Amino acid sequence: MTAPAAPTAPAVRRTPSCGAPLRLHLSESPFGPSPHAVRAAHEAIDGTGTYPDPARTAPAHAIADLLGVRPEQIAVANGSDELVLLTALSLGDVRRPGVTTAGTFPGYRICLENVRRGCREIPLDGTAPGVAALADAFGGAGIAYVCNPHNPTGGALDRAAFDLLVERAATTGVPLVVDEAYLDFAPPGTPQVLDHLSTGAPVLALRTFSKAHGLAGLRIGYAVGSAELVARLREAQATMPFSVNRAAQAASVAALADRVHLDRVRSGNAEARERLRADLAARGRHALPSVTNFLAVPVQDSARAELLLERDHGILVRDAGRFGLHGHLRISVGDAAHSGRLLDALDAVDPTASPAPSAVSRTTAQEQQ
Ligand SMILES: Cc1ncc(COP(=O)(O)O)c(C=O)c1O
Repeated sequence: MTAPAAPTAPAVRRTPSCGAPLRLHLSESPFGPSPHAVRAAHEAIDGTGTYPDPARTAPAHAIADLLGVRPEQIAVANGSDELVLLTALSLGDVRRPGVTTAGTFPGYRICLENVRRGCREIPLDGTAPGVAALADAFGGAGIAYVCNPHNPTGGALDRAAFDLLVERAATTGVPLVVDEAYLDFAPPGTPQVLDHLSTGAPVLALRTFSKAHGLAGLRIGYAVGSAELVARLREAQATMPFSVNRAAQAASVAALADRVHLDRVRSGNAEARERLRADLAARGRHALPSVTNFLAVPVQDSARAELLLERDHGILVRDAGRFGLHGHLRISVGDAAHSGRLLDALDAVDPTASPAPSAVSRTTAQEQQ
């Protein structure tokens, strides 16, 4: 893969000042995509009268090269949403229900219920996935899902917890699907499926170009994992051979090649996230520690705060109570101008937080949970 020239786009795009709402509800990237990816998408539009490559060969090979795996271990799809559905449809013993944690990305439950498998949800352990109980539940399950790094808390599993889940998948034969949508933002060394591929355990990671690569509107993601699981996924994909369009395929290849842009997004996001977390703490709001591009921020009444932020301040955020993390808003990390507007609006709609000189020690206590 050739290294592209340095990006020409500004590091952070500004939200249009025409009264459009500030979108902090879907963990989108304020940095936007690589300019090389945008150019590749435009060029691909020229071929729009013909169908896209059903084998998705170019992105599958580019991803495999980058990750050091075989192309047969990659399935490229129309976003990881599509992959959640395809895994629920096709992996493991489909007569058995799936299992996942409560208080997580709702796509796993929704897909498992829609394909009539059913879904068992293991309660959170505080604000973290209940890993020991999830591991115990593999016995009666046909497939298991875990989100790591975790939406909506923003935390990541430690090595021991991750290893336990992989070991349980290996001993039971129940496929473990790890949603790694936010892994691009996490520090090096964060446990991930790639670390375990050589063990032969039935594990699969779902990844997306929607977040750090800023291509949410084009719809493209991929699964990487055991070749047997990927083969089943690819069979299921035969029902939708053209689901990944030309522009998305071309843009994803260019995005992967632009490591300069990705590095700028990673470091810019980490800096903005920690600044926002500190600014929140200074106002008495102690967000959960996060390795992602969003923060889970405690508020008195999260449903009301979501409503008022949109209605009175034009700011879209997500009530994490909808995902089972009650009393928290999930707020995307924006740029500095976004954050100032957000902080003032939060104080207006949820005046309960008290600026505390003890903010630092309280933050530390929360980090230990
Ligand atoms: C944890 C998680 N998984 C999957 C998705 C869907 O991503 P995609 O845009 O690739 O469908 C999201 C989107 O926000 C997400 O948060």
